[in-house]
Amino acid sequence: MGYQEYYAESINEPERFWQRQADQLAWFTPPLHILSTDSNGIQRWFADGKLNLAYLAVDFHVEQGRGDQAAIFYDSPVSDSKRQISYRDLMEQVARFAGVLRAKGVGYGDRVVIYMPMIPEAVVAMLACVRLGAIHSVVFGGFAAHELASRIEDAEPKVVLTASCGIEINKIIAYKPLLDEAIRLSAHQPEHVIVYQRAQCAAELQEGRDYDWCALAQEADQAPCVPVNGADPLYILYTSGTTGKPKGVVRDTGSYAVALKHSMSMLYDVKPGDVFWAASDVGWVVGHSYIVYGPLIHGCSTVLYEGKPVKTPDAAAFWRVAEEYRVKALFAAPTAFRAIRKEDPEGRLPARYDLSHLRYIFMAGERLDPPTYQWVSEVLDKPVIDHWWQTETGWAIVGNPMGVEPQPTKAGSAGLPMTGFDVRVLDANGDEMPVNQQGSIAIKLPLPPGCLPTIWGDFERLRSGYLRTFPGYYVSGDGGYKDEDGYIFIMGRTDDVINVAGHRLSTGEMEEVVASHPAVAECAVIGIQDPLKGQEPVGLVLLKDGVSIAEAELQQELVGLMRDRIGALACFKRVMVVDRLPKTRSGKILRKLLRQMADGEEFSIPSTIDDPSCLGEIQMLMQQRRIGTVAR
Ligand code: COA
Ligand code: AMP
Repeated sequence: MGYQEYYAESINEPERFWQRQADQLAWFTPPLHILSTDSNGIQRWFADGKLNLAYLAVDFHVEQGRGDQAAIFYDSPVSDSKRQISYRDLMEQVARFAGVLRAKGVGYGDRVVIYMPMIPEAVVAMLACVRLGAIHSVVFGGFAAHELASRIEDAEPKVVLTASCGIEINKIIAYKPLLDEAIRLSAHQPEHVIVYQRAQCAAELQEGRDYDWCALAQEADQAPCVPVNGADPLYILYTSGTTGKPKGVVRDTGSYAVALKHSMSMLYDVKPGDVFWAASDVGWVVGHSYIVYGPLIHGCSTVLYEGKPVKTPDAAAFWRVAEEYRVKALFAAPTAFRAIRKEDPEGRLPARYDLSHLRYIFMAGERLDPPTYQWVSEVLDKPVIDHWWQTETGWAIVGNPMGVEPQPTKAGSAGLPMTGFDVRVLDANGDEMPVNQQGSIAIKLPLPPGCLPTIWGDFERLRSGYLRTFPGYYVSGDGGYKDEDGYIFIMGRTDDVINVAGHRLSTGEMEEVVASHPAVAECAVIGIQDPLKGQEPVGLVLLKDGVSIAEAELQQELVGLMRDRIGALACFKRVMVVDRLPKTRSGKILRKLLRQMADGEEFSIPSTIDDPSCLGEIQMLMQQRRIGTVAR
């Protein structure tokens, strides 16, 4: 069956289509109802099936004779270590650590926060929670104590799991002091903290609350897999919205398992036994779906890479890993390839490695700009496939079905709608835009399996943030257009979310941090173009009357505040003091206009602007401060 026919069936006969996909999994009890409606009025897939995703991801493969196959290739240039973990070893470790958690009172429906670097124990921790029917929430290691605290407060975990440190280029980040500070800041107190001590740094343990991971694991009994309902939450993953309050995207179990299993063959064209490498982090959705669950459910070997595309030790790292583990599909963010290109512009390094097993390069996380697409395609001479998705959807909305019928690629386009996603481009009234005209990208309901059924503890946030704007549609927050062949072009967010080095960040949240500085009366944080990281945040600040502080000093203090409150990953480095900010007559700051000015784009001055005379002054300041392309 070709892509058109296959896709059409997924839209026109969704229950039949998805039932067939669900049949690929070893349910304890197969679902009776394929599509049903929950108490919030959300359509849910496979709600009443019984399964356990840790069983599907690990034990099942051992039962099927894959026990000796590598489940995880751990490769860590930053700690100079490598480890291969077979499915059988993984099963043993997961069952034992589930025993540890069970002994600490963790059971079905309890939450566990995981604040860990890219080490195999992070994967073991996730799967151990799942084995017990507990809900994990992994927090990216680059987030500072304040961010971690807000997630602990929202998820209310019984236990927090951590490691003594993460390792960045040439520096060790001690996690335990950050976690201790987060717990101090949080209104919710976890009962226990379990710490994996790494050789690079020893964490202090607090008597009565903190435990040593290995000591507990040595004594623990193995715990069996607990069957859960298809509709039960598997994890909560916090992502950036328009405000500082973290948004806990909930993923359910059954529909996610079906969607991931399906995507491994339909989109990524990999088979059980193949090696899949998502060069991301378990703290992001890509890590959840394609470092951990997707490849393991499918019986692949997954690469867990604790390093960077460059400087660990050099720009050949990706090619070295791809050769060493015979990677078939590599998935990374475009920014990683821009970093590689910067150090190896002629693309000489890949030729030094045997990349004959590498069939595909998949990219997501941010827009794949045509120059990067062209460079990677030429240098590797392999298909480069962009695909667009979000934490909310858990897998690709738009892409290229390499395992069904590869479609021609178009530079600048993320591809064609994936199975079950009825993608539309809408105008402000919710009517479809003509081809090649930009609008809001929305998905007609119901969403296919794998997508979020709610926001943790706040269903209203799902309704108001995604479902209310255009009744009958999920609104993605991205803008773009569809061309005459149905290809989707994603042109950027329509809200206050920006994308820095493939990391999703909220400028609204950054504004809250800037505004908390005693000298600041008002501010706007905008995301301007950056040749390496895609976007970079810049703060425009209005000082309080009577306050005098040098711009450089304020910048230094705000940069420190941002690293303390959000984390270094925000890459907040630039601040500009202005006398006025452009606003509408109703007082709304014209952030888009500021961004367009900085990026040197054409802009029209809205008729609702209160006082356009400040624009010239801001433009001049941007030039003087070398902010954005306006200065280049
Ligand atoms: N723990 C602690 N700190 C972290 C961290 C982590 N897990 N990840 C990043 N940071 C810190 C870095 O140390 C750096 O701190 P610094 O300002 O003190 O130097 C800061 O956050 C910014 O990090 P990063 O964006 O990684 O910048 P970089 O200059 O070190 O590396 C790239 C640049 C392009 C190589 C890197 O951003 C990259 O690999 N990006 C791809 C990201 C990705 O895969 N995203 C996938 C989502 S699908
Ligand atoms: P996250 O939820 O962190 O995965 O970030 C999702 C956001 O990243 C999307 O809403 C887009 O703005 C952006 N994004 C992800 N993949 C792509 C892509 N292939 N092309 C353009 N933007 C993308």
